[in-house]
Amino acid sequence: MRFEQTCTNFLLHHQEEHKRTYNFLILMDALISAAKHIEHYYLTGALQGNLGFAGNMNVQGEDVLRMDQIAQEITTHYLRASGRVIHAISEESDEIVLMNTEDGRYFVYFDPLDGSSNVPHSLPVGFMFGIAKRNLEGVEDGHLRAGRDYVASGMFVIPTGTFTLALKDAGTWRFHMDETMEFVRPTRVIFPEDTEWELSFNSANRYTFAEKVQNWIQQNESRYAFRYLGSLAADFHRLLSNGGMFMYPAIVSHPDPKKNRPQGKLRLMYEGAVVAFMCQEAGGAAVDEMGAPILDIQPEDPHQRTALYAGSKPLVDEIARVLSS
Ligand code: AHG
Ligand code: MN
Ligand code: MN
Repeated sequence: MRFEQTCTNFLLHHQEEHKRTYNFLILMDALISAAKHIEHYYLTGALQGNLGFAGNMNVQGEDVLRMDQIAQEITTHYLRASGRVIHAISEESDEIVLMNTEDGRYFVYFDPLDGSSNVPHSLPVGFMFGIAKRNLEGVEDGHLRAGRDYVASGMFVIPTGTFTLALKDAGTWRFHMDETMEFVRPTRVIFPEDTEWELSFNSANRYTFAEKVQNWIQQNESRYAFRYLGSLAADFHRLLSNGGMFMYPAIVSHPDPKKNRPQGKLRLMYEGAVVAFMCQEAGGAAVDEMGAPILDIQPEDPHQRTALYAGSKPLVDEIARVLSS
């Protein structure tokens, strides 16, 4: 028999070692419970008829899927019940979701279901989150936190039973779900240096990118393998193991100018910064369209978008030089 350390046990020791409180454990327990329930609904989604549209649009003007709603309902329930969350920001809620505004300790920014185009096919999606802490020294004004101020970020890739968690100054760790639905076997993840790196971007968009980005792709892509699942969480999961770079550049020269996205497509607080934080703790880097670190962007809007170039540091540094030139 092989016995594995559970994620809960790993976190208990982590908190004890760093002389921290149990509040973070209660929050993590809520996130893990939510992920298990989302996993269950997703696995049974095709048979239960839960993989289609819900019939309305979200704050981003995108069609909401039934699974988006289910994942949102589950996550807000567990976060609220934890009593540890001041407020949450979710892709599926226009308004900031107020929770324990008096005594809560954390802010949670999340995308309950990332990679919607995979949903009708039961293919991998993500549940992504970033966590910041209240100002314990002085008055808390509830301002939106930059990625640099997150204390943890993570993603569950659903329904694959994998969980990746980055802890501030303590690394990026991966867990796998066992036969009892427990996340086990903490394994440190660091971007590899001596593997065949991969590029991951929507190649159909390449002629809509800035000219310098198009030129860089043309000159360099043959050095890399190419993989794209269409779900940031799942694509980034691969990259963490294999090395390389995920890109969602700004769309600036679309033949239909209405389809340009000069700010990028992905959302800063619950996609870009979540990935950037995991990158940093795994020895990688992440920058925006100006080549500036994603972690330094001070959000002005909960749902603000950003271009994203994230992955192995040498490659991200290389594109950052091109972007900032
Ligand atoms: P969401 O499903 O939460 O709206 O996010 C989808 C995002 C991200 O997961 C993925 O990397 C990207 O959109 C895919 O976009 P394209 O279909 O334009 O490639
Ligand atoms: Mn998303
Ligand atoms: Mn989503």
